[in-house]
Amino acid sequence: MRKPLVAGNWKMNGSRESNIALVKGLLEGSSQIANAEILVCPSFVYITEVAKQLEGSSIAYGSQDVAKEEVGAYTGEISVGMLKDIGCSYAIVGHSERRALFGDTDVIVAQKFAAAQNGGILPVLCVGELLEEREAGQTEAVVERQLQAVVDLVGISALEKSVVAYEPVWAIGTGKTASPQEAQDVHAFIRGWISKEDAAVAEKVRILYGGSVKAANAKELFSQADIDGGLIGGASLAADEFISICEAAG
Ligand code: 13P
Repeated sequence: MRKPLVAGNWKMNGSRESNIALVKGLLEGSSQIANAEILVCPSFVYITEVAKQLEGSSIAYGSQDVAKEEVGAYTGEISVGMLKDIGCSYAIVGHSERRALFGDTDVIVAQKFAAAQNGGILPVLCVGELLEEREAGQTEAVVERQLQAVVDLVGISALEKSVVAYEPVWAIGTGKTASPQEAQDVHAFIRGWISKEDAAVAEKVRILYGGSVKAANAKELFSQADIDGGLIGGASLAADEFISICEAAG
């Protein structure tokens, strides 16, 4: 049985003040959630403060990215060792915004995945197609290419210690969600693809859906057989809304 995971990707949002209020709301609301794991991914600069506030709670925290290198002269980068040092348990890699805006290629994403895992942090590997790719019928080919790059570097068994997040790029921040069936089809494809190499890994790996998830559509999405929770952007910035989404997963 896969325990659902609901992760909040705060992206480049928040301040010390707003984070305190948000985490307070999450702590209050999360006590009712027994059957889902909750994760928040604040901006790097706020992780430590958020961590302090979360101390003693069951809410996990992680980062939105990680360097592919371990240590050294890489100005501006954050290593997995540093993230581990401050208690992160997850790191998002390959988010579509990083792929589109910051040059994270499939190979770089694979290297970041490997760095996270080698450093003892669970990577949350984001995959997903652009609108034109979906319209051209290339969704599965794109997702396969993104997964293959990771498997080529680390092998299929490494996926067991990771989370995959399917985020169709056209659904991110647009208010346009994939229908539960559209999402399920891609999730089933991903699990089937992994299963061809290793059925046990496919059975264990959690596959999250991301892209305009909100309280109003979460339940239907999460009730699909291969959707094991969500990666939430905008709706993770409001405590009540995010907690409702976590309830839908639990
Ligand atoms: P939205 O929930 O704002 O569409 O963002 C999804 C996302 O990119 C999470 O990583």
